[in-house]
Amino acid sequence: MITEVEYAKRRKKLLAKLKKKSLTVVCSASVKIRSNDTEYPYRQNSNFYYLSGFKEDNSFLVLIQGKKESKTVLFVQKKEKLLELWNGKRLGVKKAKKSFMVDEVYSSDKFEKKLKEYMQEKHTLYYDFQTDNKLLLNFISNISSKLYAIKNIAKIIEQMRLIKSKSEIELIKHSIAIAKKAHHQAMKIKKTDSFEYELQALFEFVFKQNGAYNDAYTTIVAGGNNANTLHYIKNDQKLKDGELILIDAGCEYKYYASDITRTIPVNGKFSKAQKELYELVLHVETKIISMVKEGVKRSSLQKEAEKLLTKGLIEFGILKKSYKKVMKKKLHKKYFPHGIGHFMGIDVHDQNPYKTKNNKEIPLQAGMVLTIEPGIYLPKEDKTIPKKYRGVGIRIEDNILVTKKGYENLSQDIVKSVKDIEALAKS
Ligand code: GLY
Ligand code: MN
Ligand code: MN
Repeated sequence: MITEVEYAKRRKKLLAKLKKKSLTVVCSASVKIRSNDTEYPYRQNSNFYYLSGFKEDNSFLVLIQGKKESKTVLFVQKKEKLLELWNGKRLGVKKAKKSFMVDEVYSSDKFEKKLKEYMQEKHTLYYDFQTDNKLLLNFISNISSKLYAIKNIAKIIEQMRLIKSKSEIELIKHSIAIAKKAHHQAMKIKKTDSFEYELQALFEFVFKQNGAYNDAYTTIVAGGNNANTLHYIKNDQKLKDGELILIDAGCEYKYYASDITRTIPVNGKFSKAQKELYELVLHVETKIISMVKEGVKRSSLQKEAEKLLTKGLIEFGILKKSYKKVMKKKLHKKYFPHGIGHFMGIDVHDQNPYKTKNNKEIPLQAGMVLTIEPGIYLPKEDKTIPKKYRGVGIRIEDNILVTKKGYENLSQDIVKSVKDIEALAKS
């Protein structure tokens, strides 16, 4: 659990990074209409949530940095009986004052008026350049850029989010524990002739059953050749005997993601060719995970993964040129076209400033959580690939915490060896 004290500490830490005489506005996410009058399920803006833990829309967090003193102000929706009848209870100003460790709370309809007051004598305005908040954008379009320096706050908050606290790691672990239940369940049940979306429904059910209200991203259930579409989310085909299924599925528990991929046989048993490819990806994944530790650069992990996968692909006769030539012409990218991993946390892809402003790569630091997810993708249509390997896509993805001495594989309990996957299918 993240306490109010932790949220307050984050705001204090952020304030210390901001210019004197500055004003910072962080907006809640906007509600999105789905089909005239009904809404998509609401999901709070990640940066707003990181700083406040508040889940309601139409809210603003304002940080005022004076010459010496600073102040934090929260704007929340006021209580309104009729709207609450339709859309649910609101916390309201009075309770928000008690719940949050901020200096002042006002109702959101006072936001513009208050902002005008705060702007006096402030020289820098920080906000998220990607915000779609009309109120704020309208306000900004009316202020004179001659008087104010305008800066992007998102980058600074996202930098802070890269290093996870103990309580954040606990939530990620919990999210992974729920994902584990779903992945193991999927390994156990009979799948031949089911539709991909039935398996998707199983994941969504197990997530909700265990207290994860949302998936962290749309579940990918890709049977056979569909796995060669990297973000395949149609999930509308039949699972066929003898094929593999790539399942990339993670949930969101109290706003923290898990992001797990397992590739398993529809009928519970790998064929010889599938096993060869699978063992290669597993070997690479294990090797790259073992390299993770503070100080290591993500680009070194990428390079090593590409090297190992290329060697394997040459050995299997999938790439037919010499290692040197393949690397020089980047021929392997055709079969491993994506990155080795990404940071994760409140977002499944936490923003990734892998480089500093001067384009220097940021090495891994203790407290970062990232995915390691090598894969090989061998489309059915590619006739240069030996026939037995065509139409197979394999990715294995785990969630890794960087520590001072090395790493902790947070998802190591989700089975992934051929032996363990086949044993679960039999059980
Ligand atoms: N689940 C999306 C990804 O692995 O990037
Ligand atoms: Mn991922
Ligand atoms: Mn994934």
